[in-house]
Amino acid sequence: MTLLAIETSCDETSAAVVRDGKILSNTVSSQIKLHAEYGGVVPELAAREHLKNLLPVTRAALHEAGISSKELDAVAATQGPGLGIALLVGFKAAQAVAFALNKPFLGINHHEAHLYSPWIAGTPPVADFSQFQPNVSLIVSGGHTMLVLVESELKHRVLGGTIDDAAGECFDKTGKMMGLAYPAGPEIDRLAEQGNPKAFDFPRPLLHDPGDDFSFSGLKTSVRYFLRDNPALLDDAQKIRDLCASVQAAIVEVLVTKTLRAARRNNVRCVTASGGVTCNRALRAELTRACERNGFNLRLAEKSLCTDNAAMIGILAERKLLQQFPLPPLDEEIQPGWVLA
Ligand code: KG4
Ligand code: ZN
Repeated sequence: MTLLAIETSCDETSAAVVRDGKILSNTVSSQIKLHAEYGGVVPELAAREHLKNLLPVTRAALHEAGISSKELDAVAATQGPGLGIALLVGFKAAQAVAFALNKPFLGINHHEAHLYSPWIAGTPPVADFSQFQPNVSLIVSGGHTMLVLVESELKHRVLGGTIDDAAGECFDKTGKMMGLAYPAGPEIDRLAEQGNPKAFDFPRPLLHDPGDDFSFSGLKTSVRYFLRDNPALLDDAQKIRDLCASVQAAIVEVLVTKTLRAARRNNVRCVTASGGVTCNRALRAELTRACERNGFNLRLAEKSLCTDNAAMIGILAERKLLQQFPLPPLDEEIQPGWVLA
């Protein structure tokens, strides 16, 4: 089966062609620079940019895959959750393509697709997901932080999520307080390499709470008050590196501890992680260490597939189509608030 997938839920315009579980192409046009001057994603601008980029990105994906649109067997797009007017662009365009080609169309939950992104590339490549199921999966990005129990293919249950800010948002907002450009996560990661993670002691919210929910707004506020009381720290480049390392250590400790606890409680043997924050080197290293120590198999999404991309949408859509997932009517609407259950 050859399938075209489109993803426009936030600030990445992406199109991918997948065939028989393999990515033939995965073109991503990021809008990060556009939104940087506003310090966050501006939905109206995101939608306009998607409109501008969707056609060239889709053409590039088809070209790289070496196929024409006539060879497509199905079309898929992100249906939600995401920014309404951003989702609308990709979803309606994909429906139009399916209509024109008279092919099946499937709307996909963005988070459910993240669950599969650790499997679709990497070493060793995994043809059969089932050998790593059940697993506990951490999805951690700018908009979301959640733990999901994947019992078997297409069967999962959300264990917990953030009750306020996402971990990525905490990276971005605390970085902004330190004068770093949006999105600050990658820059904090880079600066933290030469910083002391024990230099400053920031709170680890809900670390000792037995549940699977997260909270990062208290950590953010604590950094804000700390900088209000110690503004001179920001004049010292090494102190900024120490701050980055200390904030990162707090976020990573919470993510790793709670993920491992959920994995133990649910008796799984495998842990997976995806979403933009999974690019973070400290998180990857700490998850690796903790899983080795506790005897869990760990599968991290490849960095290029951690951030939003259409390949994960296409891979999941193909699995659903192969399992005769019922096709919804072609005029279905977007679901910006679609919560994974
Ligand atoms: O998944 P993603 O591209 O978009 C959504 O938010 O859905 O994730 C973007 C988030 C941003 O908050 C960004 O700062 C964070 O992922 N991020 C990182 C790193 N790379 C991206 N955070 C920490 N360390 C990184 N290396
Ligand atoms: Zn995402």
